[in-house]
Amino acid sequence: MRIVDIIEKKRDGGVLSTEEIQFFIKNYTEGKIPDYQISALLMAIYFQGMTAKECADLTMAMIHSGETIDLSSIKGIKVDKHSTGGVGDTTTIVLAPLVAALGVPVAKMSGRGLGHTGGTNDKFESIPGFKIELTKQEFINQVNTDGVAVIGQSGNLTPADKKLYALRDVTGTVNSIPLIASSIMSKKLAAGADAIVLDVKTGDGAFMKTDEDAQKLAHEMVNIGNNIGRRTMAIISDMSQPLGFAIGNALEVKEAIDTLRGHGPKDLTELVLTLGSQMVVLAGKAATLDEARQKLQQVIADGRAIEKLKVLIKAQGGDSSVVDHPEKLPTAAYQVELLAKQSGYVSKIIADKVGVAAMQLGAGRATKDDIVDPSVGIVLHKKVGDKVAEGESLLTIHSNTQALDAIKAKLYECIFISDSAKEPTLIHKIITQ
Ligand code: URA
Ligand code: CA
Repeated sequence: MRIVDIIEKKRDGGVLSTEEIQFFIKNYTEGKIPDYQISALLMAIYFQGMTAKECADLTMAMIHSGETIDLSSIKGIKVDKHSTGGVGDTTTIVLAPLVAALGVPVAKMSGRGLGHTGGTNDKFESIPGFKIELTKQEFINQVNTDGVAVIGQSGNLTPADKKLYALRDVTGTVNSIPLIASSIMSKKLAAGADAIVLDVKTGDGAFMKTDEDAQKLAHEMVNIGNNIGRRTMAIISDMSQPLGFAIGNALEVKEAIDTLRGHGPKDLTELVLTLGSQMVVLAGKAATLDEARQKLQQVIADGRAIEKLKVLIKAQGGDSSVVDHPEKLPTAAYQVELLAKQSGYVSKIIADKVGVAAMQLGAGRATKDDIVDPSVGIVLHKKVGDKVAEGESLLTIHSNTQALDAIKAKLYECIFISDSAKEPTLIHKIITQ
């Protein structure tokens, strides 16, 4: 087999065979095919697309390029959740204990933040003592005894995806639906869950700017998962503004605590109940999404959900008294309000720019080696559709420096006020097959 024949076949709109896909993934991972030939192939895929079968073959080939994780020693149906990335996306901290409170085993592997999106690991680490780096055995034991564990990405999962993603980043080929779908699904499937719930974000702050593309991506991923024998569902959710009120590590932990107690922000609560219902159904703990939602609301109301968060924090070495005393979480030295310059309705909050502002306060990383400040960030007081009077606070900046003129100017550019505005729809669609 020759790589140049594979490139020409795809360039001319042909369908690649399983063997051809395995050939280029294996040889590229082993360094036997140069970047320039794979760049040409990626561009051909970008323009010609892939059939569902090609996309599934690509995913399988990437899974088998490295280690996979075996969760079979954990009892029950393990359900994973994946978000395509957002700003102030506090969902994992809420969802993990919430669905675990219903007896769904949660073995969650999550990442750190880079750029304008925050990472779940950094958020958990803002809890004094919390340890995210567990050994594989500690991780599995904890799920079996406590029903929930969260671990940093470990091992050599999908090396083919690491190489391909880096190449796509510099060759203008990131935004291809089959390439994104196989990249995400290979990582999820290699991590060993029996079932997967996908949160595909749509809007200005997301990869997929339109509903149509978000739906195509969701369908592609749901098909891959189900064809490989892992039950998979997806939702399409709005990312035209940050999720919830808080953006920042300790601030989002506090927001998660509020949500698990039943008084979190409306959009975050709705997203968590929607994703959580799918997880509970996939895990076989409820027959319908409605029944699952009722059960989730019940564990929030009777306190079992918040108790599970305490169990999780304690099991991973953290100080679980922060749940009853959030004031023990790291707190920034200064709280500065951003006041509205005019009256009206908030019509737009540019999510990715707000994320960059939070990062510049120290809540995120510009490069992989930056150190995150757990205490800083932004808490919104107004969301899209809310009425605001001149001089009212739009948001609070939590900062360890008083030099905030540049950040304030930037935040004013993120928030638009006009004569009328309506609240965006949060859940655009639910995709089960
Ligand atoms: N996230 C991924 O993991 N891969 C992509 O291709 C895009 C987003
Ligand atoms: Ca949030």
